[in-house]
Amino acid sequence: MKHLLAIVVLFLASCSPSPEPVAKDGTKKLVVGFSQIGAESEWRALETDSIKKEAARRGIELKFADAQGRQENQIKALKSFVAQKVDAIVLAPQTKLGWENVLEEVARAKIPLVLVDRGIEVKDDALYATLIASDFVEEGRMIGRWLGEKTGGACNVVELAGTVGSDPAIERAKGFAEAIAAFPGVRVIKSQPAEFTRAKGKEVMEAFLKSDGDAIGAVYAHNDDMALGALQALEEAGKQPGVDVLVLAIDAAKPAFTELVAGKISALVECSPLLGPLAFDAVEKAVRGEALPKRTVVPDRLFDASNAAAELSKREY
Ligand code: AHR
Repeated sequence: MKHLLAIVVLFLASCSPSPEPVAKDGTKKLVVGFSQIGAESEWRALETDSIKKEAARRGIELKFADAQGRQENQIKALKSFVAQKVDAIVLAPQTKLGWENVLEEVARAKIPLVLVDRGIEVKDDALYATLIASDFVEEGRMIGRWLGEKTGGACNVVELAGTVGSDPAIERAKGFAEAIAAFPGVRVIKSQPAEFTRAKGKEVMEAFLKSDGDAIGAVYAHNDDMALGALQALEEAGKQPGVDVLVLAIDAAKPAFTELVAGKISALVECSPLLGPLAFDAVEKAVRGEALPKRTVVPDRLFDASNAAAELSKREY
C-alpha cells in the first residue's frame, strides 16, 4: 500500500507544472527569449556577450537562440518562445522583411518584443514595443563625407556590402551614396555583398583587385570584419593599405581600431554593440506596461588618424 502511495505521489509531482523561476529575494524571475542572428562578426559576438551579461546582472533568465545566420531559424525561435510563455522577447533581426506573421503570433500571445540592433519593415509598428539601434544612414553619411573631404572630391570606391536585405546593408549604402553625391568625382565603381564576414570580405576584395586593380582608390566596407578581410587581400596583392588604397569601415571594434591606429585603416565610424543595458531597461518597462519611445538611437562617432590613438586605451569594445 505504501508502495502504491509513493508511486501516486511521484506521478502527481511529475504532472504538476514546473515551478516558476524565482529570484534570490523571492520575487518571480523575468524569463526573456533572445533570438540572435548568429556569430558572423566581432561586433555580433560583442552584442551577444553584452546581452547575456546584462541579463545575468539583473537576475533575468535568458533563453538564448543562435539562428546561425538564417531568418527561418529566428522565426522558429520566436515560435518556441511563445510556446514557452516567456515574459518578453528580444530580437536582433537578420533582414528587414518577412516578420509580419510571426510577430502577429507574438502579439496574440501578449508578449512584448524589443528589437535590438536592426530595424524591420512591418505594416503595423505596434507589432514591436521599441527599436534600440544606431542610425545606419548617418553612419554611411559620416564615412562618405570624410572620404569626399579627404580626397578633394575625386576617388574610385569599391563597396563591400553587408548581408542582402539587412537593415545595415541597405541604410549604410544609402547614407554613403547620399554623402558622396556632393562630391561628383567620388564614385562607387563596384559594389558586392560580402555577408559581414572577414572571409567573404577577402574573397570579394580579391575579385575587385583582379577586375579593377590600380583604378581602386578606396574600399568602403559596411563592417570591420569585411575591411579586415580586404586588408589581407590588398597586402597579398602587394598594395599598401592606407597609402595605395584607403580602407574605411563601420563598427570600430578593437581589432579594426588597432589597424586604424597602425594607419592601415583610414577611418572608422563606430556602432556600439553594447546594447544589453538599454535592451533590458526597455524589456523591464514593457513588461510593467510602461510607454516606450518607438525608437532609441545609439549615438556613434567617427575616428581617423587625428583622434584614434588617444581613444584606443579608452575603448570599451
Ligand atoms: O547590425 C549590425 C551589423 O551587423 C554590424 O555592423 C556587423 O558587424 C554585424 O554583423
